Amino acid sequence: MQTITVNKKQYQIEAEADMPLLWILRDHLKLTGTKFGCGNGLCGACTVHVNDKAVRSCQISLSDIDKQEVRTIESLATSGKLHILQQAWQDISVPQCGYCQSGQIMTALALLAQNPNPDNKAIDTAMSGNICRCGTYSRIRQAIKNAAASINASSNDSLDIEKPDQLDGWSV
Ligand code: FES
Ligand code: FES
Repeated sequence: MQTITVNKKQYQIEAEADMPLLWILRDHLKLTGTKFGCGNGLCGACTVHVNDKAVRSCQISLSDIDKQEVRTIESLATSGKLHILQQAWQDISVPQCGYCQSGQIMTALALLAQNPNPDNKAIDTAMSGNICRCGTYSRIRQAIKNAAASINASSNDSLDIEKPDQLDGWSV
């Protein structure tokens, strides 16, 4: 039995120590927003955060997350309000089939938490490990830029949007 912390909640997990985090999330916790793609760390569909860093949950085991903070896509929308990134995705209809998009958003979130105003090169570098078979790359890039613009504009309180330093917090 191991205690893990996911989306700020603690869970007792009975599983083999080498079980991938992806299966802990999907099968044990029913957090199915995180997707299985390749199982080999190559596609990014399974991306979550561990201690605020984007990681491939298919490549991390239960024993690896002892005393670590795991965050999944399910933590982003709160109180019925989309996260600023999810809103940016929705505003320009980024997803096609949608399968890769939770991983894309989690990677984008880690990027913006580190660099609130990324240029094309920074976006392409950060997102390069997240594969989209539907080819939504140009819309992903645009949505990240739109989210960044919203964040930077949020110094104007009348816009009623999140502050930059809330991006990697838990309230948005
Ligand atoms: S399923 Fe983990 S990187 Fe593809
Ligand atoms: S939207 Fe279909 S794989 Fe990315």
